[in-house]
Amino acid sequence: MVNIGTRISELELRNPTILASGILGETSGSIRRVASHGAGAIVTKSIGMEPREGYPNPTAVEIDCGILNSMGLPNPGIEEFKKEIDEIDEIDIPVMGSIFGKDEEEFAFLAKRMEEYGLDAIELNLSCPHARGYGLEIGSSPDVVREVVREVRKKVSIPVFPKLSANAGDIVEIGKAAEEGGADGVVAINSLRAMKIDIHLKKPILYNRVGGYSGKGIKPVAVRCVYELSRELDIPVIGVGGVETWEDAVEYILAGACAVQIGSAVYYRGLSVFAEICEGIKRWMKENGFESIEDFRGVALK
Ligand code: DHB
Repeated sequence: MVNIGTRISELELRNPTILASGILGETSGSIRRVASHGAGAIVTKSIGMEPREGYPNPTAVEIDCGILNSMGLPNPGIEEFKKEIDEIDEIDIPVMGSIFGKDEEEFAFLAKRMEEYGLDAIELNLSCPHARGYGLEIGSSPDVVREVVREVRKKVSIPVFPKLSANAGDIVEIGKAAEEGGADGVVAINSLRAMKIDIHLKKPILYNRVGGYSGKGIKPVAVRCVYELSRELDIPVIGVGGVETWEDAVEYILAGACAVQIGSAVYYRGLSVFAEICEGIKRWMKENGFESIEDFRGVALK
C-alpha cells in the first residue's frame, strides 16, 4: 500500500504538496478552499508588523517560463490578520504562518503572535527579492539569518522554517547558519531577482522595476539548491520553484526534499493541481516499488 503522507519536523502532512506563500493564503475563505482541494499544508501570505498597501500596478507579469512579480509585501498587518485566522474553523491540515520583519525583534514578535493565533508552524520570509529593508539584506547574511532564527526559536515552540534565497551568496552557508540558529527545516528557494523590459515603452514593465521570478524557469536552480542543502544539512528541506506536475515533485524528492510547495502552478492549473500531483506521485511509486516518500527521498544524492 503506497503511503504519500510525510513528516516535516513535528508536522504530519497527509501528502507532500504545500501551498506556497503569497498564493491564495490570505483570507480564511481562500485557505479553506485550498485545504478542501487536497493540499497537504498551507503557507499564508507574508505578514508584517503594520498594514501595507503594496506597490501600484503593474505588480505582476507573465514572462517566459514563469511569472515576475513585485507586490511590495501587501498585507493587513499582524493584528488584523488575527481576524482571518479566527475564521478558519477546524481545517485539518497544518497551516504555516509566513512572516517578514526588519530585524530579529520584529521576527520574534510576529512569530509569537502567529503561535498565539494557533498556527502550526512559522515560515520566515528572509529573502523577498526586492523590498528594501526586508529582504536580501537579511537573507544573504549567514550571521543575521542565524540570529533571526535563534531569536524566533527562543520565543515559540512550534516548528520554524526559514525560506532561503539563491539570489546572493552561498545558499548552503546560509542554510547551515539557519540550522545552527535552531531551524526545524529550511524552504528553498524564494523567487529570483529579475526584470522584464517593455521594448516598445523602452522601460521596465513592473512599477518597482525589479521583481521576483517564479515558475518553471527557476526549477533547475531550485532543484540544485535542494540537492546541495540536503547533502549538507541534517534538517528537512522543503523544495519550491516551478512545481507544476507530479514529475517535478518526484524530481525534488529525489534531490532530497521531504515536501514541495506549489505557487505559480495554481495560477496556470487551478486548485486541482494538488490532487493531480498526488495521484501522479502515487502511480509512479507503485510502478517503482516504493511504499513511502522516505523510500525514495534523496536517492539522487547517492
Ligand atoms: C514579494 C515577496 C516575495 O517574498 C517574493 O518572493 C516575491 C514578491 C512581494 O511581496 O513583492
